[in-house]
Amino acid sequence: MGKDICSPLIEFHGVSKTFSNGFRALTPFNLSIDRGEIVSLVGPSGCGKTTVIRLAAGLTAATDGEIIRRTQELAYVFQDPTLLAWRNVRNNVALVAKLKGVGKAERNAAALAAIETVGLSRFERALPRQLSGGMKMRVSLARAITSAPELMIMDEPFAALDEFTRDNMQNELLRLWRVNHFGAMFITHSIREAVYLGHRIVVMASHPGRVARVIESPNPPTLDDAPRDLKALDATVNTISQLLAGEPA
Ligand SMILES: Nc1ncnc2c1ncn2[C@@H]1O[C@H](COP(=O)(O)OP(=O)(O)O)[C@@H](O)[C@H]1O
Ligand SMILES: [Mg+2]
Repeated sequence: MGKDICSPLIEFHGVSKTFSNGFRALTPFNLSIDRGEIVSLVGPSGCGKTTVIRLAAGLTAATDGEIIRRTQELAYVFQDPTLLAWRNVRNNVALVAKLKGVGKAERNAAALAAIETVGLSRFERALPRQLSGGMKMRVSLARAITSAPELMIMDEPFAALDEFTRDNMQNELLRLWRVNHFGAMFITHSIREAVYLGHRIVVMASHPGRVARVIESPNPPTLDDAPRDLKALDATVNTISQLLAGEPA
């Protein structure tokens, strides 16, 4: 038990994935994510980022290697907020809890708290079509945190948003992290986003999909919301840009 609390949430040991058509999407991949740690995965499209999280989620099997996951409390957030058009905000947020068999009073209370956390209390009864892209993503985040996940798995969640909304959502995510302190695998093809959000940044390369480098953030997000050293973060962005410069976009 005590050991479990200190052990990483998830570990990849020499995990590779070759698809049935012979395509090597991922060559031996090693990574562990601690409780409360945000790990960004960044790299050009096709380098195997989504494959890594499908493996993490158990949606696809590894060809080789081992994945150890020490939590059942997972939540997913994807680029498409996947809201049900005919359900209002509250009922969309409560849906995952409903599917898990949580009673009505309890799931509604959890949904309302999550909706308040993402700043959408006034829109509790609004339908998805009445919301902007950023608001829909807030609903998607609220739905994810309702289940109090220990591990958030996020696949380019903000990629479809305009830059201004995207910056807001990055800060929103960090605010949620400071409250809930989940571990996260955050996939993006924005180097800047990866560096801003991650405690560590896994830089991936393609053909075949692999880890090019793992970089510790020089100034990671902290629970006390200390001001960020943007110069240090910019330097890391530059390092990663140079590392990926030879890679096809
Ligand atoms: N089921 C599949 N069969 C064959 N190739 C696949 C399959 N799924 C993904 N791929 C290929 O694996 C590579 C990695 O895909 P993916 O993990 O989605 O990359 P990313 O998320 O980094 O863009 C891509 O070249 C993709 O075309
Ligand atoms: Mg992808």
